Amino acid sequence: MAGLWGLKMLFWAGIIGLTYSQTTIIPDDNKATMAPTASTSNETSLTSTPPSNSSDSQASPTGTTVTATTEATETTPEPPKCSYTVTPIEFGLQINVMNSPPGDYSISIIEGGRRVIEERVNFTHSTQHNIQRLKPCTEYEHQVLYNYGNKIIKCTSTGNKAETKEMSETDITGQSSINGHICYQSQWNISSLKLPPNITPVNKSSSDSNTLCVQTNDICSDYKITFTSETCVNTSFDITKNIIVDLYNLTEIQQNPSTGLPAVIQPTLPTIKECKNITVHYTCSEKDNPGQTNKPLSELDPFRNYRCTGLIFNNNIPTVYTTPPVHLNTDCDLTINLENKNTNTSIKLSWKTTSQKCNGVLHKFSYDCSCDKKGITGIPKLQSDGGTCDFTGLEAFTDYTCRVQPKYNGKTVSNKKEVILKTAPGVPDGSPTVTVTVPENNVIKVECKHEGNIRGPDKYKRFIARLHPGGENKPQNETVCKFEFKDLSYSTAYRVEVTVFNGYFESQPGRGTADTRYNDKAVIGFLIFLISAALLLAACVCYRKLRKRRSDEDENVASEAIYMNTRPPGWRQKEAQ
Ligand SMILES: *[C@@H]1O[C@H](CO)[C@@H](O)[C@H](O)[C@H]1NC(C)=O
Ligand SMILES: *[C@@H]1O[C@H](CO)[C@@H](O)[C@H](O)[C@H]1NC(C)=O
Ligand SMILES: *[C@@H]1O[C@H](CO)[C@@H](O)[C@H](O)[C@H]1NC(C)=O
Ligand SMILES: *[C@@H]1O[C@H](CO)[C@@H](O)[C@H](O)[C@H]1NC(C)=O
Repeated sequence: MAGLWGLKMLFWAGIIGLTYSQTTIIPDDNKATMAPTASTSNETSLTSTPPSNSSDSQASPTGTTVTATTEATETTPEPPKCSYTVTPIEFGLQINVMNSPPGDYSISIIEGGRRVIEERVNFTHSTQHNIQRLKPCTEYEHQVLYNYGNKIIKCTSTGNKAETKEMSETDITGQSSINGHICYQSQWNISSLKLPPNITPVNKSSSDSNTLCVQTNDICSDYKITFTSETCVNTSFDITKNIIVDLYNLTEIQQNPSTGLPAVIQPTLPTIKECKNITVHYTCSEKDNPGQTNKPLSELDPFRNYRCTGLIFNNNIPTVYTTPPVHLNTDCDLTINLENKNTNTSIKLSWKTTSQKCNGVLHKFSYDCSCDKKGITGIPKLQSDGGTCDFTGLEAFTDYTCRVQPKYNGKTVSNKKEVILKTAPGVPDGSPTVTVTVPENNVIKVECKHEGNIRGPDKYKRFIARLHPGGENKPQNETVCKFEFKDLSYSTAYRVEVTVFNGYFESQPGRGTADTRYNDKAVIGFLIFLISAALLLAACVCYRKLRKRRSDEDENVASEAIYMNTRPPGWRQKEAQ
């Protein structure tokens, strides 16, 4: 034992000597290791190039100074002393240096003569150092060296051995892994744990002393295993873990996402007798909006693309397994069946929405409706799968573009419905401007112009003229505003009213007046009579004067005759001739 120790120290000292080319101070029983000092002359040339570490290069003198310091050790004060304690802690030992200068230390842990741990530690900011991953209930030798300048000083402690603590069940965690393995892990070195005879560890890689894997066929159930510790005498403990062994090749799970809403993903997991309560809980994030937090399937919005991942639960306890992501789109095939009722001043829209893909969430949609000419927006009254909207105060016989816009959670979605609707005919705007003329004595001609909107179909457009007093004149009805009333009474004041008619309504009337003249033919006839009467009278007078001249002898009688007898017998005879 001592020999081996000596050899090890020789080796160490050799390494340190070569690296730093310095003298080492070592215990008496290792005098053989003084040998490396002899090689200092060789290394003078080697160390002339400064080492990369600046602090070392300052402290690293050439060969000549090495000998100087070697001699100086006899005259200069004693090198500093260091000491430490060792305390068992969880998973290992704690080294605690005391009354020691700060600086670089080397810690070695030796188990059964084999150096299992070798660490270089800087005790400047702390005086403690934990060594873990040791075996429980195991006695270790320990050694702490202080790297003081060019020298190595062995620190003292109350003993050179310490025993680690016992381990407990809680120091071990279990996890399943692919291929039906369960692996147990601990911060302890558990290579000394003994498995029951019927269980053999699998793929035990010698480098990983913290993991122990076994093969099992107990799946989706509590798997119990009894470990016995080789090092802790009479210690054995049962470890029971609820473990899902990853029998599922998750990438091959059929997930069958739905389209539309409510979103459903139905994974088909292989049926395994023992796994009765395997469930998958999905959460989704929006593909175009990855910053959004994960949503459960029930909260997805329509008309979006999602990326969903399922977490596998066993008996309602989440496992560490997730399915591969699955893409889900929630396009709804909304069909808005729109009906309308129109009057000449209002439009009433009513609609029912249907959808094959989103039938279950139709009640979650809301709607905006509008009928545009002047940007009128109605307030929808909603039913569970549709609604109605009233628009009033509209213009008659006018086209309105009416829209029903579905929304979801206040956000506009596609599939809006748009129709152009005409209000019913109404009263034509304005009234015709009427012009009346009297081309003949008992004839009235009427013309008019109408410039307003007739608020009705053009094909029914008519003008209606009425004459007052009407007498035998019925209202006239023309497509063009030109009328003639004939055979009217002479010298009469007439009123004319003209409206435009659109097949449904007449406009306000436009008015005109006219007076017929006297009957000029009758007057002329009368004048002719008067003239002829006057001529006849004149002729009579001439005749009497002629007769008077012939009967000069009885002037009195003649005059008497003219006076007395307008129809003298002679005159009568003459007329008869
Ligand atoms: C220099 O030495 C210090 C401690 O002595 C060490 O922590 C550091 O890693 C060394 N640097 C180089 C470059 O070797
Ligand atoms: C270990 O167990 C055996 C039998 O169970 C017993 O005889 C022995 O004394 C125990 N040893 C210790 C150290 O407890
Ligand atoms: C499944 O889990 C539920 C709740 O955890 C439980 O009540 C039920 O008994 C379980 N069913 C089976 C078949 O294990
Ligand atoms: C609309 O029609 C009603 C009869 O249905 C009518 O009384 C009303 O004057 C009309 N309104 C307009 C503006 O045309």
